[in-house]
Amino acid sequence: MGSQEILEKQRRYLWPNHILYYSSPLPLERGEGMYVWDVDGNKYLDFFGGILTTSVGHNNPTVNRHIHEQTSKLLHTSTLYPNEAHVTLAENLAQVTPDGLDTFYFGATGTDADETAAIIAQVYTGKTEIIALRHGYSGKSQMAMTLTGQAAWRMGPVHIGYVRHAMNPYCYRCPLKMTYPECGVACVEDIRDVIQTMTSGRIAAFIAEPIQGVGGFVPLPPDWLQAAVEIVHENGGLVIIDEVQTGFGRTGDHWWGHQHSGITPDIMTMAKGIANGMPLSAVATTTEIAESTVGAGLTISTFGGNPVSCAAAIGTLEEMKDKWGPARTADVGAHFADGLHNLQDKYPLIGDVRGRGLMQGVELVLDRQTKEPAPKQANALLETSRKMGLLIGKGGLYGNTMRIAPPLIATKDDVDEALEKLDHAMAQVQEMSL
Ligand SMILES: Cc1ncc(COP(=O)(O)O)c(C=O)c1O
Repeated sequence: MGSQEILEKQRRYLWPNHILYYSSPLPLERGEGMYVWDVDGNKYLDFFGGILTTSVGHNNPTVNRHIHEQTSKLLHTSTLYPNEAHVTLAENLAQVTPDGLDTFYFGATGTDADETAAIIAQVYTGKTEIIALRHGYSGKSQMAMTLTGQAAWRMGPVHIGYVRHAMNPYCYRCPLKMTYPECGVACVEDIRDVIQTMTSGRIAAFIAEPIQGVGGFVPLPPDWLQAAVEIVHENGGLVIIDEVQTGFGRTGDHWWGHQHSGITPDIMTMAKGIANGMPLSAVATTTEIAESTVGAGLTISTFGGNPVSCAAAIGTLEEMKDKWGPARTADVGAHFADGLHNLQDKYPLIGDVRGRGLMQGVELVLDRQTKEPAPKQANALLETSRKMGLLIGKGGLYGNTMRIAPPLIATKDDVDEALEKLDHAMAQVQEMSL
């Protein structure tokens, strides 16, 4: 099918609320390693990986082999029947999850995982109220849209009174107009304040992403997260860390984004990169918390622990452990961050470069003093990069942050190629905005 036909059918048969990147959307046909091709044969260097999901590269032979072996045996069981791929994946994952978080419930999406995590926190504590963060993102269900701290991502009337949002430590735009680290992470006290003033004082949980993804790659400073965990535990809540974007070594040096802070969550969610694009998510927690679900009400997941998705995840994890681990990601990520900082020196439009490992955000502003967001320029950079053969992402509450996160197999040469394309694209966008 040609691109016109695909786009016509998209318009005719798919709901118009599907967000499509680019003024002329990009129907993709195939991928190989770091590259994807559209249906017209154009080649793109993929520095977004289908939203940080193609973690070990397109058409990865190890992952595909695991998928093919499983599809020739059994496609589906439901959680009513144990299957080998399901239990093997759980065992393998337990080798990389933080100590104690070694028991799992699998689902199909990140939304599913965050919602399951919130529910088990409520079951375990017997409380209902949850503290989430402004600018955070949890997904598209009713509860996940409420946990999300961005109005734009709430479709339709959303009203779940048991979620409250505390300030996020968005250091580039500090909610207290202070400067890190001199601020002593003062904004973390907002969590205590929200608990004391906007809840019953008895909370079930706090949920946060170590680097807010959809929120524009906003990293939580390590000391902020440590202090947040203390406040939440003092108030009887469990700490849920959402590793949907930051998991599997994405942030470098550690398997999980929160490990840069030296904290241990009570519950951790993961999805996206877990199975290199096959639909799968998981919630990890302690045996004690998992056991509290017994007798709390029946639950089932038709697609949770799907053997093909689990087989893909087994292959993905094998690849990550053998070849694309956190130390390598830290090294390539540091090279990438250096290059982006060089671009920041060159282009006044770049107000901030931030992130960890292969999760780098570039925030565009019209003026570095006022920090007025530049969403039009961000759109232009997305379009211009595409023309140069580079796919990147975009996000943030103000729609002005480029989200750049290639598959973990990216080499320094790939990074240099991306930086060169970004340099040319930035030159055009910077000139446009003069
Ligand atoms: C941090 C985070 N949590 C949860 C979700 C929801 O995941 P899904 O789209 O798979 O439901 C996302 C999706 O972008 C996410 O970035």
